[in-house]
Amino acid sequence: MTDRIRDYLRARRDLGQDEGPVMVLDLDVVRDNFSAFARALPDTRVFYAVKANPAPEVLSLLAEMGSCFDTASVAEMQMVLAAGATADRISYGNTIKKERDIVRALKLGVRLFAVDCQDEADKIARAAGEAGIDAADVQVFCRILCDGAGADWPLSRKFGCEPEMAVNVLEHAHRQGLQAYGVSFHVGSQQANTEAWDGALASASMIFRECAQRGIGLSMVNLGGGFPTKYLKQVPGVETYGDAIFRALTKHFGNQIPETIIEPGRGLVGNAGMIEAEVVLVSKKSEAEDEVRWVYLDIGKFGGLAETMDESIRYAIRTDHDEDRMAPCVVAGPTCDSVDVLYEKNHYPLPVSLAIGDKVWIDGAGAYTTTYAAVAFNGFPPLEQIVI
Ligand SMILES: Cc1ncc(COP(=O)(O)O)c(C=O)c1O
Repeated sequence: MTDRIRDYLRARRDLGQDEGPVMVLDLDVVRDNFSAFARALPDTRVFYAVKANPAPEVLSLLAEMGSCFDTASVAEMQMVLAAGATADRISYGNTIKKERDIVRALKLGVRLFAVDCQDEADKIARAAGEAGIDAADVQVFCRILCDGAGADWPLSRKFGCEPEMAVNVLEHAHRQGLQAYGVSFHVGSQQANTEAWDGALASASMIFRECAQRGIGLSMVNLGGGFPTKYLKQVPGVETYGDAIFRALTKHFGNQIPETIIEPGRGLVGNAGMIEAEVVLVSKKSEAEDEVRWVYLDIGKFGGLAETMDESIRYAIRTDHDEDRMAPCVVAGPTCDSVDVLYEKNHYPLPVSLAIGDKVWIDGAGAYTTTYAAVAFNGFPPLEQIVI
């Protein structure tokens, strides 16, 4: 927790306004993270993955600092434009787009699009025609599959195609008059293995060579996201990722290193946010001495902690009693849905003195929390966010 977040929460409590869970995000941390990315990968453009946290204050700060933006929808593009960035700093990174949304994006001025099959390239070519835009001005990059090994939140299978197919997709895009621009991949979110980019870059260089043989000059590799934030486990610093990526780029592209972009989400905003929540109930399922305690918080899977699905992301939960003896607990949310359990397969150690009404603090909550919260499931309001 940063001093600014601590001070904010103290003031909120003094005013008696600490009802309900809240996520407080410190913009100073986002600023530092962006600078760290710029230092670690100095020749790489940053496209912030807006989905991680689209708070207007975050977008404005990043726009001011010179960031570009990876968007998943027209709504996200509009938020980025409203934050002061121009359309030439936006990519439409979702491989699953309605054709009419592609037309809207083109009319907004966006010219950079992800595809992972020929039909998606066809949509873009048709949309360019409909929007009255020369297809040659529209850049497409093809996403390739990555197995996500080493990532806590893998993104495998749903997005991307086999590298051999990507060559044909890019050639097809080229034949449709679009600008076949490059290759993208995502090594899986919260990727602990700094070497995870190596295999994907080997595939990317093969695609560059094959396309060159077909007379198509690619120029860009989108290295995706995957840069971790700190939850319970320590993670390598962004400079370690930068070094590993530069080594892999040199290994696979020699002295012809292409233009590169990254799309960090979690790594830019995760550690900037902290959730303050409250213990609603501590109970047991029998009176046996060794029975595990169930700790029910006023936030759960539907209140913003969706990434605890399959217990993938293990948040650091702190309390005012962390000096006391710890005992394993099941941690659950407040709704009347039996899947609203955060940690049960792997019990979570919490202090034995933790009691109803105590506050808990969940670190690393700046990414993939507020926008995951249900609008009113069980009548609970969505997670409030305060940006300081
Ligand atoms: C296309 C794309 N780029 C970037 C990201 C951000 O990934 P991360 O939060 O791991 O940096 C995502 C996350 O889902 C994504 O889908």
